Amino acid sequence: MAAHAVTFELHHTDPGCAARRATLHTPHGAVDLPTFMPVGTVGTVKGVDVDRLRGTGAQMVLGNTYHLALRPGEETVAQLGGLHGMSGWTGPMLTDSGGFQVFSLAKQVKITEEGARFHSHIDGAALHLTPERSVEIQQHLGADVAMVLDHVVALPNEHDAIVDAMQRSLRWAERCQRHASKPDQSLFAIVQGGLDAGLRVECAERLAAMDFAGYAIGGLSVGETAEEMDRTLDAVCPALPRERPRYLMGVGTPRDLVEAISRGVDMFDCVMPTRNGRNALAFTDHGPLRLRNARHKHDTGPLEEDCPCPACGHSRGYLRHLFNAGEMLGPILLSIHNLTYYQRLMAAARAAIEEDRFVAFKAEKLAGWSAGRM
Ligand code: GUN
Ligand code: ZN
Repeated sequence: MAAHAVTFELHHTDPGCAARRATLHTPHGAVDLPTFMPVGTVGTVKGVDVDRLRGTGAQMVLGNTYHLALRPGEETVAQLGGLHGMSGWTGPMLTDSGGFQVFSLAKQVKITEEGARFHSHIDGAALHLTPERSVEIQQHLGADVAMVLDHVVALPNEHDAIVDAMQRSLRWAERCQRHASKPDQSLFAIVQGGLDAGLRVECAERLAAMDFAGYAIGGLSVGETAEEMDRTLDAVCPALPRERPRYLMGVGTPRDLVEAISRGVDMFDCVMPTRNGRNALAFTDHGPLRLRNARHKHDTGPLEEDCPCPACGHSRGYLRHLFNAGEMLGPILLSIHNLTYYQRLMAAARAAIEEDRFVAFKAEKLAGWSAGRM
C-alpha cells in the first residue's frame, strides 16, 4: 500500500449517528473535518480576496481543471507559481477533474472509452480530456488533492446509461491512479451510480479495493430530490473505508450539509454561498433572507445578530441599498457573509460531534431553517 501525501485522522464518531470529527493532513496544512470548501473555480473565490477568505474560517479551497485548462491554461498557471502561487492562497487546495464541467458546461460532448471530446463554452475550441490528461493538468495546477476524471450523467436517466457511466468511471479511476505520480499530491476517487443503492455500493467497494487517499460521492445535486440524496448517502457511506475522508461533491444547502454529516460525510464544496450572495440572498439561522424584498428597506438590524462578518457590521437597509444601486460591494459583502455562515455551521457541527450531541444539533438547525424553507 502506497503512502498517501494527504492523510485522514479520525478522532471521534458521534454515538447517536454516523457523524465524524476528524483531521485531514495535507502538504499545505491541516483541515478540521467536517469542512466546507469554498469554490474558487478560475483561481479566485468570486469577489473575495484570500485574506477575507481566510477571515471567513475557510481552511481548504477548490479549483477547477476544466476552467483553468481553458483559461489561462495549465502552462500559464504553472509559470505563475501553480494554483497556490498564482492565487496567493497558502492553505490546502483541491482541484476537480473536469468530469462534472464537461457534463454541465461543455458543448458538443462526445464520451468514448478514451475520454471526453468537447468544445469549450468560452470560445468553442475543440478539446480532448482523457483521464491521463486530467491528471497531468492537475499536476501542473499543483493542488494537494486531485480528483479522478469521471463520467457524470443527469438524473433521472435510463438505468443502462447510469450503469455504463459508473463502469466507465471505474475504468477511468484506474487509469488516473496509474498515471498519478506527484509525491506531494493525493488522488481521490469518485463514486457514481445514480440513485441505485446496489450500483453505488458496488462502485464504492470496487474503488475502496484500489486504495485511494479519499473517496468522493459524485453525481448528486443533478436533478434528484433532497430525500433521494439522503437515501443514496445511507447506502454509500457504510460501503466506504472508515479510515478515509468522504467528500460529497457540489452539495449543497445548509440542510443538505447537516443531513450528510449525520450520515458520515466529512467534506463539501458548493457555489451556493457565493452564487446566492451575488444574487442578494443571505443564509441565516432563520432560513434564507432575500435582501431585494422591500420589507428590508428601513431595517437597521444586521443579517444575523451574532455574525462576526464585515457584512453584519452594516444594516440590512444599507446592504439592500447597495444591491439596488448596483454597487459591487453588495455582492462582495453578501458572499463573505454566506461563506462565514457556512464556516460557522461547520465549526458548530464539529463542536456538536465532539460533545456527542450532533442529533440534537441537527434537529435544532432544521427547525430554525424551516421557518424560511431552504
Ligand atoms: N462536482 C459535483 N458533482 C460532481 C461529480 O459527480 N463529479 C465531479 N468530477 N465533480 C462534481
Ligand atoms: Zn454576517
